[in-house]
Amino acid sequence: MSKQFDVVVIGAGPGGYIAAIRASQLGMSVACVDAWSNHLGEAAPGGTCTNVGCIPSKALLQSSEHFEQAGSHFKDHGIDIDNISLNLKKLISRKETVVKQNNEGILYLFKKNNISFFHGFGSFSGQTEGGWCIKINDSSNTDIIAKHVVIATGSSAREFPNLPFDEKLVLSNDGALRLDSVPKKLGVIGGGVIGLEMGSVWRRLGSNVTVLEAMPNFLMSADSQIAREALKVFTKQGLDIQVGVNIDSIKIIGDSVSINYKDSKDVHKELIVDKLIVSIGRLPYTDKLNYSLVGLKVDDKGFIGVDADCRTNLPNVWAIGDVVRGPMLAHKAEEEGVAVAERIAGQHGHVNFDTIPSVIYTSPEIAWVGKNEQQLKQDGRDFRVGTFPFLANGRARALGDTTGFVKVIADTKTDEVLGVHIIGPMASELISEAVTIMEFRGSAEDIARICHAHPTLSESLKEAALAVDKRSLNF
Ligand code: FAD
Ligand code: NAI
Repeated sequence: MSKQFDVVVIGAGPGGYIAAIRASQLGMSVACVDAWSNHLGEAAPGGTCTNVGCIPSKALLQSSEHFEQAGSHFKDHGIDIDNISLNLKKLISRKETVVKQNNEGILYLFKKNNISFFHGFGSFSGQTEGGWCIKINDSSNTDIIAKHVVIATGSSAREFPNLPFDEKLVLSNDGALRLDSVPKKLGVIGGGVIGLEMGSVWRRLGSNVTVLEAMPNFLMSADSQIAREALKVFTKQGLDIQVGVNIDSIKIIGDSVSINYKDSKDVHKELIVDKLIVSIGRLPYTDKLNYSLVGLKVDDKGFIGVDADCRTNLPNVWAIGDVVRGPMLAHKAEEEGVAVAERIAGQHGHVNFDTIPSVIYTSPEIAWVGKNEQQLKQDGRDFRVGTFPFLANGRARALGDTTGFVKVIADTKTDEVLGVHIIGPMASELISEAVTIMEFRGSAEDIARICHAHPTLSESLKEAALAVDKRSLNF
């Protein structure tokens, strides 16, 4: 006898588990199926984000930042420590503990919300009057029938052509998060988010890191003024970032990896490294769904085709998160999960794609929301810009972290905030105020008139908003 549910969610990443919780809150009977296992073979819900993405990378970024601070910056605060040493095993095991706490938190939330959790791959096996049939390859080969299916199967790392990940020499994000020694020379193909975050982790721990990026300019998705500042700072920190490269071949030679490429001036070069991280984007993951059996449409790039409301071509089948169009971000997946659960319940779920923040958790952090200067120029929009450097912010000076600036862009006529771009300390937290203002379609003057606590980094956002009207007070 098949188990019957109102909703089955396939995938328990940030998109899937949040969709399941919201559907349950709205009174539906919900099952969630997830295949991820930890090294003991136990269920490890949370998807890429929890197991090999957001959470473990931020744990390593924090630990490696402490290591660098203790080694190079504590002395500025009058704290002298001799003989600093790295216990990499402990650093990695701490990260694994953080991951496990998050896995267990999600299992607890499933229980609390009466969600039936199944550990295994879920696949379409047909359709009956009661709904869609989903087969799960768990220990009891469970069959489920559900009126609604939410597909949240996420993404996987893209391989470089003819260079499969072995996670020993050629690393995806997975291998890059669990090295057992610090490589002397580390290569990174792709200067995007993973390349910069993981490159920073291993540089701080002692690697000589070279990043090879194909695009002609650095961080082309960011505001170009922010990208220029970031390149300057990361280069000063010791990351060797080369843009405009064209990779001819990558070969494994013994215990090393050799990369032959042409640099931006078309000069042939060879880079030999001990480990290579390949971070050239991610691909939607649909392998185990058996989607062709039911005629589910997938686009030419492998994404499940959906409309603006995450409806697929099949009735009552929805898809969210990395497996559909849009930025591959955990918070985007979560927003879609909530919206789809609400639509299933007959409500008007909504995701505002214009106010999804982007964050790069390097040091300094980089964060932005809305449009950048290049995009607005291309749109032919009239705008004014205000910037404020952290160098002029009292809290940043007290912290000893004055790199970077805040940039507010507002419409010339209406003063509506069109974009906020930050490079500097705690940019990931500061960006929330900008998201809130933009969600309410507020103006630069609105930010400028709000009382900000002193001394805080957030005063820099207020000052940048004042600078839009050329009246910042502290610069
Ligand atoms: P996923 O998290 O990929 O989850 C999908 C789940 O579905 C997985 O558990 C998978 O095993 C399971 N699954 C797949 N097929 C089946 C099936 N047929 N049956 C059952 N289960 C199945 N984003 C941020 O916003 N902030 C960050 O700081 C950040 N850092 C990142 C760092 C790294 C190194 C990486 C790789 C990614 C990072 N991301 C970050 C991106 C973020 O992880 C993804 O956008 C997010 O996880 C997508 O969520 P999802 O629910 O769509 O899919
Ligand atoms: P990415 O899209 O951020 O960067 C990939 C980079 O590789 C691009 O700059 C691209 O130009 C370059 N590239 C592609 N092919 C190349 C080639 N042949 N040679 C050299 N360079 C090449 O993708 P990344 O870093 O793999 O991350 C995947 C996804 O994970 C991102 O879309 C991101 O949204 C998400 N993520 C988010 C994080 C965050 O929010 N802080 C952290 C890490 C990942």
